[in-house]
Amino acid sequence: MNAGFSFLILCLLAGKALSACDKGEAVSFTPSDDSAILENPERGFYHHIEIELPVSNLKNKTQEWESQFAGWNTKEGVSLVLVKFALKNFVKKNFDSSAGKDLDAMRAVFDTLRSLGMKAIVRYSYVQCEKADGSFIFQEDAKKEQLLDHIKQVAPILKKSLDVIYVLQAGFIGCWGEWYYTINYAVKISKDDYKPNASHKKDRVEIMKALLNAVPGRMVQMRTPVLKQAFDECGGKNIQPADAFSTSKMCSQIGIHNDCFLASERDGDTFKQDNEDAERQWLKKEGLYAAVGGESCEDPKKTSTDCKKTIEQLGEQRFSFLNLDYHKKKTAAKGSTFCASLNILNSGVAPLYNKRPVEVLLRNKQSSKTYGPYVQENIDPRKFAPGERKSIDLSVQLLPDVVPGKYDVILNLPDGSSTLKGKAKYRILFANGNNVQDKTNRYNVIGQLTVN
Ligand SMILES: *[C@@H]1O[C@H](CO)[C@@H](O)[C@H](O)[C@H]1NC(C)=O
Ligand SMILES: *[C@@H]1O[C@H](CO)[C@@H](O)[C@H](O)[C@H]1NC(C)=O
Repeated sequence: MNAGFSFLILCLLAGKALSACDKGEAVSFTPSDDSAILENPERGFYHHIEIELPVSNLKNKTQEWESQFAGWNTKEGVSLVLVKFALKNFVKKNFDSSAGKDLDAMRAVFDTLRSLGMKAIVRYSYVQCEKADGSFIFQEDAKKEQLLDHIKQVAPILKKSLDVIYVLQAGFIGCWGEWYYTINYAVKISKDDYKPNASHKKDRVEIMKALLNAVPGRMVQMRTPVLKQAFDECGGKNIQPADAFSTSKMCSQIGIHNDCFLASERDGDTFKQDNEDAERQWLKKEGLYAAVGGESCEDPKKTSTDCKKTIEQLGEQRFSFLNLDYHKKKTAAKGSTFCASLNILNSGVAPLYNKRPVEVLLRNKQSSKTYGPYVQENIDPRKFAPGERKSIDLSVQLLPDVVPGKYDVILNLPDGSSTLKGKAKYRILFANGNNVQDKTNRYNVIGQLTVN
């Protein structure tokens, strides 16, 4: 299981030399034999909490969150928390969004996560629909105008905390904000069955667009494949490579959250009975470019699923990561260009979804003075597709201020936001031995270089 959730530098393949540079010498890496879970940002299992707004006694509550989150992070290597905001007190009214009022808990929970080096998956819902006698209690959500007002009200806070928001789940509509069990934006077809008509479909698109505008550069996840496919704009087609990560195309920005992962045969109706195979195939491809995640909605002891099947399904649904080969050049003259080829293999099952730079740093072995970052503009780590080997070329123009001496060559994958870029906890660390891991700075030391 651990391997599925970590990044790894593997053995070397001969890389091709850049025309301006000499081909370097090959090195190979082995996986770390440390069996502990390697914590990485925007990766792995998560826990969830529910926060009913407004929160009274917020100061105390914040302390509670702080110790709870810190425990998950240090004891379990969990870096993501699903934060569900319950809005049952606001079905018919606006928030008081001024400081000290209804939305303070949002600010507090995001600040708490940031202080601990963690991130949030965010969802809002008006109704919980507790089961009575095995059936749902359908309830009214806020009407569309009210809902759109709420999105407008939370948007400034979301935008301000975008650095620590991994993904937004569509929310707001239906039980638990899953858009699924709902009498809202839908008409009754039969007992307990409601479907959107043409005007509801338009409303749903309008709401989705408002959600995407509230979290620019982040994806919005829907509960099932069918819900995304129901948008005429998306249909049953997969995101095409040319549209991947486009922030101007609605369908490129919609992911999927499977909240009943392995709960039953079809993951608690995540996949429809009459179309299960097609939907699973669709999701497998969609996960290359759209954030897919989920949680198990059942106690694992109650499900019949064994470990092998779980891992298989994690793979099928693309929950994870990346391997890397390195081709290094040992010496470089001051002021020259230093190059390295890397063959990257994402041995996990999912790519990265949020923008993140790739940088090379040179750290003098004697003085520890670090030069760089040499940002590798041409490399987008979101395009390291799972199961595919990708060759990338690193290029570093050694500025004259790099003094002669021995250097560590560091590959740094910091967070994409300026506020978190400098924070070690948000950098991606590869699961390698060979002294690749600089755990203090969360840098990947991929080689040594002598500058003369
Ligand atoms: C707030 O927390 C402190 C201890 O952390 C406790 O002594 C106090 O009673 C709490 N206040 C309320 C109103 O719950
Ligand atoms: C859809 O249903 C709503 C009632 O929920 C109704 O007001 C609206 O006119 C219907 N639209 C169409 C196109 O049938």
